[in-house]
Amino acid sequence: MLGDIETVDLSALPNPEGPAVAWTVSQGMQYFKGELRGRSFENGKKMFAAGRCVACHRIQGSGGYSGPDLGSVGKRYSIEDILKSICEPSATISDQYTASEVTLKDGSGLYGRIIFKNDQETAIATNPFNFGQLTNIPTENIKEIQPSSTSLMPPGMINGMNPEELQDLMAYLLSGGNRRHVVFK
Ligand code: HEC
Repeated sequence: MLGDIETVDLSALPNPEGPAVAWTVSQGMQYFKGELRGRSFENGKKMFAAGRCVACHRIQGSGGYSGPDLGSVGKRYSIEDILKSICEPSATISDQYTASEVTLKDGSGLYGRIIFKNDQETAIATNPFNFGQLTNIPTENIKEIQPSSTSLMPPGMINGMNPEELQDLMAYLLSGGNRRHVVFK
């Protein structure tokens, strides 16, 4: 249905150096008071992998599919909006990416995004880190489907990063993956 989904090998991704910080929007914003310049493209790209962003998001075509393409996020949002999306993912959830709570007639439940549904079968992506992994259930077994108020994006994905690493990640997001962007000058 989704064709060939690129799956990202999570165990092969790098990790941030840290030390870890329990980032909040206001703590993060302290490091974005002036103009963002002189950041490292390579390290920003590395942080996009280290934060596991790449398992769910694409920039310049490569990455996962459970979240939106972030290639133009820097043109659409302020740094503060981006930080808020990262620190508090459930505060605003884009319509297209809303997850569902599926209650089955036997009383059990599933959480994920409905990828496909017809009278016979319903396919739910239950693992946002691997959107190719679908759970298929007979549609007649479903009692109820409710939109979820919890984002498929987990909070705290940047918490392993130190301030320098967070700034490089932000620069990479603002640049849309363009190494010639002014944030790297
Ligand atoms: C497990 C999957 C997953 C991971 C990991 C993840 N995200 Fe997300 N992200 C999502 C989903 C799904 C949404 C859309 C739902 C929502 O708005 O909460 C989203 C939304 C966003 C948005 C808002 C985009 C928009 O157009 O509204 C930003 C910005 C974002 N993520 C950045 C990041 C960054 C940066 C990282 C890594 C530090 C990251 N995400 C890690 C799944 C993920």
